[in-house]
Amino acid sequence: MDLYTEADTDRDEFWARQARRLSWASSWSNVLDWSAAPVARWFVGGRLNVAYNCVDRHVEAGLGSRVAIHWEGESGESRAITYAELQREVSRAANGLASLGLVAGDRVAIQLPMIPEAVVAMLACARLGLVHSVVFGGFSPAALRSRIEDAAARVLITADGQFRRGGAVPMKPGADEAVAGTSVEHVVVVRRTGSSVDWSERDLWWHDLVDAQSDTHVPESFDAEHPLFILYTSGTTGRPKGILHTSGGYLTQAAYTHSVVFDLRPESDVYWCTADVGWVTGHSYIVYGPLANGATQVIYEGTPDTPHQGRHFEIIQKYGVTIYYTAPTLIRTFMKWGADIPAAYDLSSLRVLGSVGEPINPEAWLWYSEHIGAGRCPIVDTWWQTETGAMMISPLPGAETKPGSAQRALPGIGASIVDDSGVPVGPGETGYLVLDKPWPSMLRGIWGDPERFRETYWSRFSGFYFAGDGAKYDSDGDIWLLGRVDDVMNVSGHRISTTEVESALVSHPSVAEAAVVGAADETTGQGIVAFVILRGGADGAVEELRNHVAKEIGPIAKPRQVLVVPELPKTRSGKIMRRLLRDVAENRAVGDTTTLADSSVMELIAKGLA
Ligand code: WT7
Repeated sequence: MDLYTEADTDRDEFWARQARRLSWASSWSNVLDWSAAPVARWFVGGRLNVAYNCVDRHVEAGLGSRVAIHWEGESGESRAITYAELQREVSRAANGLASLGLVAGDRVAIQLPMIPEAVVAMLACARLGLVHSVVFGGFSPAALRSRIEDAAARVLITADGQFRRGGAVPMKPGADEAVAGTSVEHVVVVRRTGSSVDWSERDLWWHDLVDAQSDTHVPESFDAEHPLFILYTSGTTGRPKGILHTSGGYLTQAAYTHSVVFDLRPESDVYWCTADVGWVTGHSYIVYGPLANGATQVIYEGTPDTPHQGRHFEIIQKYGVTIYYTAPTLIRTFMKWGADIPAAYDLSSLRVLGSVGEPINPEAWLWYSEHIGAGRCPIVDTWWQTETGAMMISPLPGAETKPGSAQRALPGIGASIVDDSGVPVGPGETGYLVLDKPWPSMLRGIWGDPERFRETYWSRFSGFYFAGDGAKYDSDGDIWLLGRVDDVMNVSGHRISTTEVESALVSHPSVAEAAVVGAADETTGQGIVAFVILRGGADGAVEELRNHVAKEIGPIAKPRQVLVVPELPKTRSGKIMRRLLRDVAENRAVGDTTTLADSSVMELIAKGLA
């Protein structure tokens, strides 16, 4: 019986079997309680410690000398950390955090570069039942602050600075700005760059807090539904949503998918996921999935072109990486740099290639297969979201793959494509992707906002989770993802809301009104194009506005283009018609304008831009 049939035959038993691959302090009474839908409870009454599962149990199984993390710094320094060392470090960090008086359920914000302490900090939180909220290092102090405030974090763990493209970039001044006047009682600072920092009473060096602690710590078990982390992601409104994940179901699905989708062989594989721990991919496929599976992995601190464009291939060669998991935007960047670069390295260790974050175009898929995979590595195109916690749709290696298609729901997962009224569409017809059965790693809500949780995901179609993606079936019944159907953009695999960028723009004194669209971009998937109406025709504001957005949200949200226009196209009810602006941004003839309040607006815009 294959995995699909097995899962279809008895879904609860199938997931129970996956959960039993973990170590539980006490077992569950039933697998799924869906009576309070849409808030699921998985492995009801079961108890476990997530960090124990990711670290200690491997040491107890005699694998203490196995390398958990091959860490590679941007400047070429490296460090190998075994599971036994990881156990000691996590224990020390847990003892340190506990000494601050933190108790299970408290929230801890983490903004760190890609250094081992990031993983250790997350696991130390998990070990104590503290709920971490990791904030990507590229987010601005204002973005960090709003996340700290929303979750009422008691502690922020950050660094003095980080290395970026050969230089040291300070982080502590931003942290100071972010925590001022918030609930944060202590800022714990990892010394990374050695740059001088301003210090105040609430600040503590990580090494002072952690190094002298005992390297043993007895983990307590927590309920399967104990909150593990909050991770903020963009939605259709300006305010990011704190996606809440819990322990037992999340870890079960993260570990199961990491094992089955990559065909993981923990005793021989060297796995590398190029994401940052600040995104969900880093949570599930750098920290929790791989470590729960006892894998050996590479963690790289820097950018792919520092100090040269062959950096990733050099790392694959150096460590004999067998599984490589990255985003289409990077593959398209490699394409631009040229096939000669990977060709200069020995990539023969590679066995499985993964893709995530945005639809992969067939051209990039084929290039990835040929120039990185030498035509012999299966590519798994994995569709999932911050909200789903773990992979949902992906081929399994060994299956016949199709360039550009994520193909089918994984065993145990229910996905379907429906039309406006919730009826499944036929092959070739475009519809909405929905998830029609609860899954173990599903989000348990939006932090502090149960109403928004129901409204956003569960009100569009009755009984189905609305993912926000368009999709279609081909004639074999395979799924093709077509991008977002809402006002969420996907730039280099990062999710950014149009409203969020618009709010940042109008917060600038010279902007009267702004409308933002995602326009097709050859490398980044989508690029941010902003249309702004200036107050009193301020000149030379364009560059300043781009920088203003980067300062408000973070460099990832910096518009590719800012176009100054005299008017914005609006319907009679005042809604901005982004569709028309997208036509302009993508240099197409403008579509149907009959629903505009003033149909001459598009001509005005065209004339102004000519
Ligand atoms: C959105 C979720 C999944 C972790 C990283 C992004 C898009 C993601 C794919 C894929 C087509 C994809 C979707 C989704 N997306 N993976 N394989 N094919 N689209 O997580 O930031 O929560 O974004 O990314 O549009 O809704 P996220």
